[in-house]
Formats: sequence, structure tokens, C-alpha cells
Amino acid sequence: MNENGLLTVEVALADSPYPVWIGDGLLARGGEKIRSVFSGSKVAVVSDANVAPLYAETVLASLRAAGMEPTLIVVAAGETAKRLEVVGEVCDAMIRAGLDRSSLLVALGGGVVGDLAGFVAAIYYRGIPFVQIPTTVVAQVDSSVGGKTGVNAPGGKNLLGAFHHPVAVLADPVTLRTLPAREFNEGVAEIIKHAAIRDPDMLDGLDPAARTGLAPLIARNVAIKARIVAADEREITGERALLNFGHTVGHGVEQAAGYGELLHGEAVSIGLHAALRLSVSRAGLPPVEAERVLAALAAFRLPIHLPAGLSTDAIMAALERDKKFHAGRVRFVLLEGLGRATLSSAVTLKDIRETVEALKMPDAP
Ligand SMILES: NC(=O)c1ccc[n+]([C@@H]2O[C@H](COP(=O)([O-])OP(=O)(O)OC[C@H]3O[C@@H](n4cnc5c(N)ncnc54)[C@H](O)[C@@H]3O)[C@@H](O)[C@H]2O)c1
Ligand SMILES: [Zn+2]
Repeated sequence: MNENGLLTVEVALADSPYPVWIGDGLLARGGEKIRSVFSGSKVAVVSDANVAPLYAETVLASLRAAGMEPTLIVVAAGETAKRLEVVGEVCDAMIRAGLDRSSLLVALGGGVVGDLAGFVAAIYYRGIPFVQIPTTVVAQVDSSVGGKTGVNAPGGKNLLGAFHHPVAVLADPVTLRTLPAREFNEGVAEIIKHAAIRDPDMLDGLDPAARTGLAPLIARNVAIKARIVAADEREITGERALLNFGHTVGHGVEQAAGYGELLHGEAVSIGLHAALRLSVSRAGLPPVEAERVLAALAAFRLPIHLPAGLSTDAIMAALERDKKFHAGRVRFVLLEGLGRATLSSAVTLKDIRETVEALKMPDAP
């Protein structure tokens, strides 16, 4: 759908459907678009220390122009902001600014800001509406859609949270031009995942040098995630689990490497390699199709082999802590063909161990 140069993807939830608007320069029109879903006046704009200096003023000015009264709340950049203490600080700042149940929260930033601010919106006055303005590839194609919000606990990532859907998502691909290349590429790992499970033709259009004209690509990915989320909002039928393609081994690698060593998308890229190999051996994925996905990952300089010094034992230990195994088996997302993902119980721990072993650099000991 195209309206005033904007692409719109509808997230068709039964109770609370919402639009995702995607378009170049949308940030400056944020106030006008938000006005169409919010009739109150007080707004908290939560952002981080990297994003706020770049984009907050544009958003604040457009909210003011649309008759709203915004307050900017800036948290530290990076995963450490996803903590309960920071939730408390943001809530305190909102109380001081006089926001109440009739107010709106706007999350302006990457997945960290979206998860944190979304969780604040879920609990503030027992829940207020919020709008996501995602500024990373990860946030535009993945985390801003789906309603999962939350923070980390000392014992693990994303352990504290709530389902709380935004009332609208505004994605402006122009903001991605200031994203460091490594962060841009890690987001593409999720795009390649979407292509593998639902939309293989998307692989042909991926250009590692492109930083303009990205709106159709973002919209195509949002549509994939939106369709899966709408079909299985609370992860009951198993459909939503298909989004975990590459993530079982990916999480194991991410944890074993130590958080911060590999970016999430980089670990997922290695996990996609594992899942592709298992798909070939256990689900009949043609090897040429697996190669096509691996070539796309390589084009974005995403790793597909294990970093030196990371042992199979450490990865398996992390993976077994992370996932529930029943009699040595785990539900694993496999591809029968590109675009055809299924949840399988054909994969054993032994299969995974052998596959992880095969992910070492070809010349590693
Ligand atoms: N809720 C979900 O469904 C879901 C899905 C995937 C990931 N996540 C969460 O998302 C988080 C990761 O998100 P992320 O990868 O966006 O990380 P992030 O929010 O930390 O952003 C990455 C870095 O880029 C900076 N940045 C953001 N936008 C920028 C821009 N336009 N220009 C320059 N710098 C910019 C940030 O300040 C940060 O330093 C994790 O906490 C993860 O758990 C949630
Ligand atoms: Zn992921």
C-alpha cells in the first residue's frame, strides 16, 4: 500500500491491530502520523545517548507542531540500559514530567530502547499506549514488531518482560545511514533469515552497498514478521517459533563467546549456517539452496565459521542451558526448501554437536 510516499504494513492482531508506516523522511512527519493514533497531549520520548543527538530534535519538533507536549528522556546506549534500575529511572522521569494514564510513550532508537521503553509503557499506570520509532535494521525489521518488551535480569537476557504492542510503528530508513556498518550488517542476518523461511526471492535484491531506497525491503520484512506474529501472537501454535531459525545454535554461540564479543546477528549468522547444514541432512534441503543463503551472508561480511578459541563443548553447554531437550531431542526449525520452514523433532543433540564441530574454520585444529 502506498499513501503519500509511505508504505503501510498492517499487523493484523485480533484485539489490537496496528500500522507500521515505512518511508524516507518519515521522522519529520512523526507528529502528524502519531496525531492520527493519539488524541492526548503529553508524550515521553525515550531515546539513547547515541540516537538522541542525531534524531530527537526532529521528532520533538514534529510532535510540538502537531500540538503535543513532549519530554525527552535519554538513557545510556547499549545493552546495559535494559535493566530494572533504568526502568525505574525512566518511570521517575515520566512522573516528574507529569505524564499519566492519558499520556503516550515514544521509543526512538534501536532494539534496546524499544524493549526497555515498551516495557515501561506496559507497566506505567498499568499500561499506556506507545509508538515505536526504530532506528536500526534489527529494530525496523524485527524487534519493533511483535509486542515483546522487557529487560535483562542478572541471571539472563530478556527474562523480565511483558507482551505490549505499540499503537503504531514509524520506520524511517534514512536513519539507517548513520548506523555503523557492523550494526547494519548484523540486522541483515535477520533479513536473510526471513528470506530463508518465507521469501527466498528477497535474496536476489540484497545489495551490501545500498543505503538508499531501502523502504520496500524493510516493508517486505515487516510483512513477513507481521504475518507470522498475527498467526501466533503468543507462541502457541508453533508458527512464531519459525522466526527462531538459526537461533538455537546462534544463542549458544553468542553466550559461549561471551555477550558483546559477537553481535547477536553475527552469532545468528553462524547459527544459520548450522541450521542450513542440518536442513540438508535432516529435511532434504537441496545443498545448492543452502549455498545461496551462505553466499548472501558472506556478501554482508557476516561470519559463518566459529571464532578461534570457541570450543564445541562450551557452545553445547550454553545451548543445553538455553533450550529444553527431551530425551536428547529439541524442537528445531529446519528448511525443507528455501521458503519452506518447519518445526522438526528429528534433530538430536548428537546431530547438533557434529554440526557445530563442522562450523570450525576449515583450517582450524
Ligand atoms: N522485542 C523483540 O522481539 C526483539 C527482537 C530482536 C532483538 N531484540 C532486542 O533488541 C536489542 C538489540 O537491538 P539493536 O541491535 O537495535 O541494538 P541497540 O539498540 O543497542 O543499537 C545498536 C547501537 O546502534 C546505536 N544506534 C541506534 N540507531 C542508530 C542510528 N540510526 N545511527 C547511529 N547509531 C545508532 C545505538 O545507540 C547502539 O549503540 C537486544 O536487546 C535484543 O534483545 C528484541
Ligand atoms: Zn535474532
